[in-house]
Amino acid sequence: MDKLIINGGKKLNGDVTVSGSKNASLPIFCATILAPGMNQISNVPFLRDINTTIKVLNSLGAQVEGNGNVVRIDTSSINSHEATYDLVKTMRASVLVLGPLLARFGQARVSLPGGCAIGARPINLHLKGLQALGAEIVLEHGYVAARCKRLKGARINFDVSTVGGTEHLMMAAATAKGETLLENAAREPEIVDLAQYLNRMGARIEGAGTDTVRIQGVTELSAANYEVMPDRIEAGTFMIAAAITGGDIRIHRMKLEHLDALAFKLQDAGIEITSRDGIVRIKAPKKVHSVNIKTRPYPGFPTDMQAQFMALMCLADGASVISENIFENRFMHVSELQRFGADITIEGNTSTVKGVKKLSGAPVMATDLRASASLILAGLAAEGTSEVTRIYHLDRGYESIEKKLAGLGADVVRVKE
Ligand code: EPU
Repeated sequence: MDKLIINGGKKLNGDVTVSGSKNASLPIFCATILAPGMNQISNVPFLRDINTTIKVLNSLGAQVEGNGNVVRIDTSSINSHEATYDLVKTMRASVLVLGPLLARFGQARVSLPGGCAIGARPINLHLKGLQALGAEIVLEHGYVAARCKRLKGARINFDVSTVGGTEHLMMAAATAKGETLLENAAREPEIVDLAQYLNRMGARIEGAGTDTVRIQGVTELSAANYEVMPDRIEAGTFMIAAAITGGDIRIHRMKLEHLDALAFKLQDAGIEITSRDGIVRIKAPKKVHSVNIKTRPYPGFPTDMQAQFMALMCLADGASVISENIFENRFMHVSELQRFGADITIEGNTSTVKGVKKLSGAPVMATDLRASASLILAGLAAEGTSEVTRIYHLDRGYESIEKKLAGLGADVVRVKE
């Protein structure tokens, strides 16, 4: 197992380029199942979660080849309709193959994903939506077995805003008979990216990015080429890396408009953000001010940035209140941040972070993807050496992060344990 060794206290400076979005690539890969043919997906980040999705597609019979950040997926040869527990348990998003398999072949059997470190994460709304489209669903032996003739358009109103649920039903409804209306839909930019890819395949989807998505079912789709959007969470993590180290960096290929909620909070905290010719400059102040955040569905403050923002608040000039409203157990990083000397208390879904003068390097353990990022950020700002173990979590979602940070002047290396 690899670990990262960080010698903290270096101000980050220079330029960094954001990779393609993990959370847009995953559903797009699943959507390729909807039609037979060769798809070329570019700007794909090189990550463990992408590899897992490729394994799922391979296990269904698809031919997948990668060349750098371009992945070619030929779905003509798909001959299995089952995604097994071994694959789905390592990455929940692989459950998104269910709807596309069902829409194309009329049958699918996919393992239930189970919970994960940040919460129970049920898929009840995905299944309820597929049933509303006419699928017969049976839960047996830990698997979802689904069947249908052709799915039929329906009006679906989500109880809670769900990114995966909205994506799943958009895919399933693309070739359903008639119109589907998704109400109280999630509005994340990754949903817009998926809709654009589906429309490139011939789907007729309007309103993605708003809370009402209208899908006119078409009889067939065809394979398509697509370039994935930049990863907004990776970009946000670099913004905080600059802020927490007292740095001054330029971020290339990011879309600042996808990170408004984070940018406003960073500005409240005193960080200077300027954007010119598509390059975003982040300049840290002498002292970061404390600000409160509440995670919310997009366009609110992203839960995927909560842990990293908390790391920044550990060194702010006052107390900050951080509420997590999306996942019930997303404070696993708190006890690790405390090992750096952070002053944090938790009550229910709220943490209070009292800024301290300095953090000191420590051995810490990553517990999930974004928690890993927060520990690295704390390590970059801490005095002395930190060791972050279990970084396989990090490799799920950040492409070459230690190389990118080293390029900005950080002293961070990966070593084999
Ligand atoms: N929920 C239900 N029932 C459902 C679906 C969701 O109760 O059927 C609940 C969840 O338990 C959660 C809330 O609704 O409390 C929101 O979950 P959502 O479905 O929006 O999350 P997701 O689609 O499983 C995606 C990202 C996550 C990100 C969340 C929220 C991907 C592959 N994953 O998950 O990303 O945190 O949206 O923005 O897109 C990450 O990248 O580190 C990550 C965890």
